[in-house]
Amino acid sequence: MAMSDLVVLETKPDNGLHDITQQPFTPKANRGRFTMGSIATTEVCDLSCVFCHFNGPKAPKKSKQLEPHLVRKALQELPKGSQVYFAATGELFMDEHAVEHLQAAVQLGLDPLVLSHGQHFTPELLDKLLSIGVRHFRMSCDAIEPKAYAKIRRGGELQRILDAAEFLRNRKPSFPEITVEINCTLLSNSFPKQDEMIEFWRGRVDAVNFNAEYFDTFRYRNTFFIPRARVDCHLQTYVLPSGKITPCCAVMVHAHDHDVSWLPDIRTHSLQEAHDELCEMYENPSSELSALCRQCDWWIMWAKKGDMTPYLRSVRLNDSLDIWDKRSRAVQQSVRGRMLNSFRALPGKLHAYMLRTVRGRS
Ligand SMILES: C[S@@+](CC[C@H](N)C(=O)[O-])C[C@H]1O[C@@H](n2cnc3c(N)ncnc32)[C@H](O)[C@@H]1O
Ligand code: SF4
Repeated sequence: MAMSDLVVLETKPDNGLHDITQQPFTPKANRGRFTMGSIATTEVCDLSCVFCHFNGPKAPKKSKQLEPHLVRKALQELPKGSQVYFAATGELFMDEHAVEHLQAAVQLGLDPLVLSHGQHFTPELLDKLLSIGVRHFRMSCDAIEPKAYAKIRRGGELQRILDAAEFLRNRKPSFPEITVEINCTLLSNSFPKQDEMIEFWRGRVDAVNFNAEYFDTFRYRNTFFIPRARVDCHLQTYVLPSGKITPCCAVMVHAHDHDVSWLPDIRTHSLQEAHDELCEMYENPSSELSALCRQCDWWIMWAKKGDMTPYLRSVRLNDSLDIWDKRSRAVQQSVRGRMLNSFRALPGKLHAYMLRTVRGRS
C-alpha cells in the first residue's frame, strides 16, 4: 500500500443513521441538576488535523480564549471531588493559563482530566502537572505508524506521544492514580485496524477510546452500529472559549462559525441556569436549538448497546487492569494482616475463633 493510501477520508456517510434522525421524535430533556460536559479554554491550536472543524486545513481558525476569572467561575460551581474535563476546541496547552486553570481546579477540590494532542507534553510539563495534582491524561492519536500519524495530525509527531505515555507510565509507582488514555478518531482506512491499534497500545496506556468521525457538523461516518430508533440526548454544560455554554459537542462545533447569541453565557448565567434554559430550548420546537437538533445525528452518543455506543468504543487494556488488580490485592492483604494482628488482643477462645473465621474465608 502506498503511503498516500493511508489517509483516505472519503467514505460513505451513514445515511441509515440520518434517516432515523429525521423520523418524528418528541424530545424530553434531563431536567434537574446540571452535569458538566467540559471546559474549552482556547480555540487556538498549533496542529491542523485533516478532520478538525476548528483548526483543520479547511477550517476557519479562531483565537478566542476564556479569561481565567471565568474559568474559575465555572469551576466554583462544581461539586468538590468531581472530575472536570479540560478539552479545548483548540489545544489546551496553547493557552498560557492552562497550568493555572488546572491548579485552580485542584485547589477547588476537583479532579481534572486533560485532553490534549500531546505534542507539548515534555517531561518538565508533565512533572509540573503531576506536582499540582493532575492525574488523568488523554492524548488524541489516530494512527500508530509515524508517517500516517503525521499525515492526519499535520505538524505533529507520533514519537512525542509515545514519549509522554512512557514518561507517565514510569511515574506510576509514585502516583498510582495516574490514568493515560488514547482517543482515536477512526477513518475509513483505520476502522479495520482497531485490533492492531489495541495491541500497539497494550502495555503503553490504560485505555484506547475509538470514536466515529463527524464529517459535517451534524453528520457521522465510521460508526460502530446503527441504532433502531433515536434516543434523547443527555444535556450537559460545555463552556466555550467565547464564554457561551452549549448543551452538547454538536452545538459546540456549530458555534465555531455561526451566530449563537441565543446561547447562555458564563458571564451572565450560572451553570445551573444555563442547563435549565437549554432544557427548555431542547423541548421547545420553535427554539433555535430545536431547529439544530432536528437535523443532528449526535444523539448516537447516548444510544448505548452494552458498554458501546455507535460513536464510542472504549477498550480498557488488561495490563492496566492487572496493575489495579495487583494494587487491590495488596490493599486486601494489608487489611487482612492488620485484622489478624488486632485479634491478638482478644481472649484465647475468641482469638482462635476469629483467626479460623478470617483464614477460612481467605
Ligand atoms: C477538537 S479536539 C481538541 C483537543 C486537542 N486539540 C486534541 O486534538 O486532542 C477534541 C477531540 O475531537 C477529536 N476530533 C476532532 N475532529 C473530529 C471529527 N471530525 N470527528 C471526530 N472527532 C474529532 C480530536 O481527535 C480530539 O480527540
Ligand atoms: S490537535 Fe485538536 S484542535 Fe488541533 S487541529 Fe487537531 S483535533 Fe483540531
